[in-house]
Amino acid sequence: MTVTEISAAGRSDIAHHLHPYTQLRQLEQEGPLVIVRGDGVHVIDEHGQRYLDGMAGLWCASLGFSEPRLVAAAERQMRTLPYYHSFSGKVPGPVTELVAKLMDWAPTPALGKGRVLFANSGSESNDTAFKLVRYFHNARGLPLKKKIIARQKAYHGVTAAAASLSGLPSMHQHFDLPLPGVLRVAAPHHYGGALAGESEAAFVDRLIAELETLIEREGPETIGGFIAEPVQGAGGVIIPPAGYFERVQALLKRHQILFIADEVITGFGRLGQRFGCDVYGLEPDMVTVAKMLTSAYVPMSALYVSQAIYQTVADASAGIGTFGHGYTYSGHPLACAVALETLRIYESDDVVGHVQRMTPRLQQGLQRFAGHPLVGQARGMGLIGALELAEDPAARKPFDPKRGVGAQFVRRAQAHGLIVRVLGGDVIAFSPPLVIDEAGIDFMLEKTALTLDETYTWTRG
Ligand SMILES: Cc1ncc(COP(=O)(O)O)c(C=O)c1O
Repeated sequence: MTVTEISAAGRSDIAHHLHPYTQLRQLEQEGPLVIVRGDGVHVIDEHGQRYLDGMAGLWCASLGFSEPRLVAAAERQMRTLPYYHSFSGKVPGPVTELVAKLMDWAPTPALGKGRVLFANSGSESNDTAFKLVRYFHNARGLPLKKKIIARQKAYHGVTAAAASLSGLPSMHQHFDLPLPGVLRVAAPHHYGGALAGESEAAFVDRLIAELETLIEREGPETIGGFIAEPVQGAGGVIIPPAGYFERVQALLKRHQILFIADEVITGFGRLGQRFGCDVYGLEPDMVTVAKMLTSAYVPMSALYVSQAIYQTVADASAGIGTFGHGYTYSGHPLACAVALETLRIYESDDVVGHVQRMTPRLQQGLQRFAGHPLVGQARGMGLIGALELAEDPAARKPFDPKRGVGAQFVRRAQAHGLIVRVLGGDVIAFSPPLVIDEAGIDFMLEKTALTLDETYTWTRG
């Protein structure tokens, strides 16, 4: 597309909008895809072109793009109480209902006895977790215990603290991040990180040894927390090998290191269980949730904190006079109303059961691409999946990133009416709305097959 072919809306956008996570110079030349309407699992652009959104937006629009119950809930709430806050002893009515519901939906029985603290994005809630690690250990008289261990390829958001915890280089470069006090260990990505011939079990042994060595070198008395996504999303849809989390957790417990599970993508059914905690038997001290909490219709995130953290914070803040943290929009009534209705729909429509029923179709379909000459690995769980493209699949040799093979795939898929996303290392991600049906999955797979062939031909050209 040349600049003159860009629509008026697109020209206005590139003139005035600094886009998040975008190749900015390329956008100036090509203009944006202007999405104007949603319909089930589809979105429609300004020219009337339909796309199946194989990413549910940004891993978030679980109920698709036109759920009338969410619209009705939002409208009811806007008419009744459009805004109130939770500071200094007040609370908007819908918060009181939502916290009770979130206890029913707690990722672990222990967290079901804890508290939730609201914010407006995954980044903010992870930022809150970062701060609470400090608050908790300071209050316990352990002021040195505040470094946090995070992993390579992690994605925890973009505030200064959350970006510091994230392990993707573009989030740090030129931002003078990470902040001091963040320690890094390898991602549990066997395909990309294992030594030649190393089994999954041996790989896990090596990762655990790395973590143990780091804790010993730094001194456990200086390490306050460890943060992890159960399945790493934006870093490449990385499914940890068997036994990994069990052994990580044992180490954390032994050294009294708080475990923060970032379930911003995995929470509320993406993996075929309510939470990654269910899949991997996690027992975190804090859990971040966002995205599918409201099916993304309204921004909202929440941080579950354990009873122990709550009690310590409550005691310590009593001495200070207030708990000095919270956002103007923490527990916004509109977001609460939409979150409540979203959770009710998950229950009434058995959305997690639906994910389980759809899982074999998507995962077996993706596995059928494993032998394709462009595919190094096909992987996934529940309704999340990825194809890691490779120049030489047998040798696991990636393409030179400058070739933009993944970006070419995304462009061609879009031309065929399918939106997917490329992650670093030419990983093509799939994360459709949880309500996608068999026909939707078949469409995704059919267009993926076509696009793989076209992209392969392009790489040979
Ligand atoms: C695992 C994870 N954590 C945190 C975030 C940040 O959430 P937000 O973009 O709402 O700030 C994301 C966003 O994709 C995420 O995938």
